[in-house]
Amino acid sequence: MTEYQRDKPDMLTLHKLLICIVGLMFLYDYYNTKAPVVVRVKNPKFSLLGPYNTSEYLLDDVYDQLIDIKNFTFKTNPHPCMEYPAGLLLVIIVSSKPSNYKNRMVIRNTWGRSVDSTKVVFLLGDPYNESISQKIQNESLVYGDVVQGNFADAYRNMTYKHVMGLKWVAHRCPNAKYVLKTDDDIVVNSYELRRFLVKELSPWGAKGLITCQVLEHAEVQRSQRSKWRVSPIEYAAPYYPTYCAGWAILYSRDVVPQLLTVAQRLPYFWIDDVHITGACAQQIGVARTPLSTLILNQLRVSLLTKLGPKSVGPFIFGPPDLSIDKIKKIWNAIPQ
Ligand SMILES: *[C@@H]1O[C@H](CO)[C@@H](O)[C@H](O)[C@H]1NC(C)=O
Ligand SMILES: *[C@@H]1O[C@H](CO)[C@@H](O)[C@H](O)[C@H]1NC(C)=O
Ligand SMILES: *[C@@H]1O[C@H](CO)[C@@H](O)[C@H](O)[C@H]1NC(C)=O
Ligand SMILES: *[C@@H]1O[C@H](CO)[C@@H](O)[C@H](O)[C@H]1NC(C)=O
Ligand SMILES: *[C@@H]1O[C@H](CO)[C@@H](O)[C@H](O)[C@H]1NC(C)=O
Repeated sequence: MTEYQRDKPDMLTLHKLLICIVGLMFLYDYYNTKAPVVVRVKNPKFSLLGPYNTSEYLLDDVYDQLIDIKNFTFKTNPHPCMEYPAGLLLVIIVSSKPSNYKNRMVIRNTWGRSVDSTKVVFLLGDPYNESISQKIQNESLVYGDVVQGNFADAYRNMTYKHVMGLKWVAHRCPNAKYVLKTDDDIVVNSYELRRFLVKELSPWGAKGLITCQVLEHAEVQRSQRSKWRVSPIEYAAPYYPTYCAGWAILYSRDVVPQLLTVAQRLPYFWIDDVHITGACAQQIGVARTPLSTLILNQLRVSLLTKLGPKSVGPFIFGPPDLSIDKIKKIWNAIPQ
């Protein structure tokens, strides 16, 4: 018996196995796609507004304080919402790294393109680097969409950035019906998002809504090697409260000033999604509603880019941590 003959049956089994796995993944995905989306959840914890009811919340915030930074200022502070006194449908705040100029350009030219119902701004800290600062000043003048704070832009300063975003919305854009917090390596299907807000939620807004990819019973990372390592001094409990993955969080407008008030008072914790959509959301008593299938997973991304939009069903967000090329590729596969 030659090597070749002995190998052959193994290869066949392997192929069959592969076909089975792909088939199962497809079925699993198909049934997931049919699962109820956010607005069809049983006993929703949020309510939708109609033309005659609103959700007013008094803003209780010290403007030049950001958590424990007592001399906070906005280095750049645009007000794109001023022209829309009745309130935009949606304002999108995008956490961005000062040096990620290319990401911001791609977003401006794809899903973040300015339309009348939606404005996008980028949240930045201070890079403490003269040449990058110069570029950001310029970018801010040209595009008017940079919200920059006077704290150091650093990994462990993410919570300052997120809370600065809430502060900016609460002071500069309080009438936007919905607020999306996202990152600069994400794709948003902005067409589907607007359709979803107007048709499945309400064009008048909602009350008590935080929707996202919900994470439950997540373990606190203690390993030295983890990017997310947290010492018992920083966070004593072994598990985090229920929270939202930070790369795509949709807030209804009423939630923003309430979260801001609590975030300003609680001790600083650097993992922003855990802190704001976990601890702070718990304090204001707002539930986190899963977006479930409106977020694409990797399998649906391949289906979308290979077979087209009909193969994946409706979605609003791509997966996190995308390269610039992948953002463009997914965007180009979305029907307009
Ligand atoms: C607003 O009014 C609609 C009916 O127009 C009602 O269904 C909804 O529950 C109300 N929402 C709140 C927050 O009161
Ligand atoms: C803010 O205050 C801190 C210490 O209180 C100081 O080190 C820092 O330089 C101040 N920043 C600005 C922009 O004034
Ligand atoms: C500032 O940023 C530029 C571009 O990223 C880099 O080449 C330079 O070394 C940085 N300067 C300092 C002082 O870190
Ligand atoms: C400022 O932006 C303009 C327009 O994008 C560009 O032409 C110019 O080179 C930029 N200048 C600097 C210093 O980055
Ligand atoms: C976060 O920002 C504050 C204020 O600018 C700064 O003092 C601190 O060093 C920053 N943290 C990190 C980890 O850079």
